Amino acid sequence: MVSEKDFIASNLAATPENGNFQWSAPSNIALVKYWGKKAHQIPANPSISFTLNSCKTITNLAFAKKENDGNFSFDLLFEGQPKEDFKPKIQKFLERIAIYCPYLKNYHFTIDTQNTFPHSSGIASSASGMAALAMNIMSLEKTLNPEMTTEYFYQKASFLARLGSGSACRSVKGSVVVWGNHAEMENSSDLFGVEFPAKLHDNFMNFQDTILLVDKGEKQVSSTVGHDLMHNHPFAEQRFAQAHHNLSAIQSVLENGDLEAFIQIVESEALTLHAMMMTSLPYFILMKPNTLEIINKIWKFRNETKIPICFTLDAGANVHVLYPENVREACLQFIKDELVGYCQNGQYICDAIGTGAINIL
Ligand code: DP6
Repeated sequence: MVSEKDFIASNLAATPENGNFQWSAPSNIALVKYWGKKAHQIPANPSISFTLNSCKTITNLAFAKKENDGNFSFDLLFEGQPKEDFKPKIQKFLERIAIYCPYLKNYHFTIDTQNTFPHSSGIASSASGMAALAMNIMSLEKTLNPEMTTEYFYQKASFLARLGSGSACRSVKGSVVVWGNHAEMENSSDLFGVEFPAKLHDNFMNFQDTILLVDKGEKQVSSTVGHDLMHNHPFAEQRFAQAHHNLSAIQSVLENGDLEAFIQIVESEALTLHAMMMTSLPYFILMKPNTLEIINKIWKFRNETKIPICFTLDAGANVHVLYPENVREACLQFIKDELVGYCQNGQYICDAIGTGAINIL
């Protein structure tokens, strides 16, 4: 079994003076949700997600050798402009990964990052952002250790991304990614995401995700606080057991293409996530009235047309509308006619299942 120790960098031979890398990494949408964690970003239960294609972060990492004075040194740019408010999060990330990447203190970095989705869309950029940064750091490590295998490269990238933001470890490689130990999922790990090992049924090929931007405001409760509230939560143990069960069930569904079963698991997971928020202490609600309007419209449309369209939610008010590619036209028409009116400024994003991070430079 792979352990944390395996990710401490060794065999660092080369010492480049300076250079530049660029990666894009996508966002992902969980089908079975990660909600609750232990120390060191270890998830309380396993989760599985579809990797997205269009919603992504593109990050350029320039590095120049400096004296190792025991500190990290970096400038942070967002869309080319200095962004001081993002720095503490990056500083914390670098501190968390320091023991695995001791070479980082030998360089000054300029991190320049941008998202393909609107900045204030309420779409979490932490998954794509942390994944893109982790990919760049691994490109640097690969330069220092050219012997590194591709498998190790991606595994450690996911491992590092997880230390930045849990869900980020599912944004590295693959269309469907599992994170967290699960009895029936060979090679699954709490430390990094792994590609769903079986062949995905044709029903899920190019599966569509239209993201309805219901509320773009700051969330009143961050994911970090929400995860924390799963400690001493009255339903925590049941919930974690349910996630294991749902992961077993969805594993078969992704192979056999049973869309009815898929819908039941995915919608139940979304509502359970929000039920956990509503039943923690302090309790909170991230859905908005329009979130519920949209859910009801989707149920009505599905009942009337028998088209296998469903929804999921992340930790916010936005709704991800999921449907197979072969019903794309009917679903898009329905979304435009009946759902877009519930979106803030009529905004929505058409996305689909993707394949993971891409090396640009
Ligand atoms: C509801 O990965 O954002 O989207 O590890 O604290 O950064 P941190 O949390 P984060 O939590 C995501 C929670 C979720 C469900 C999911 O993506 O599985």
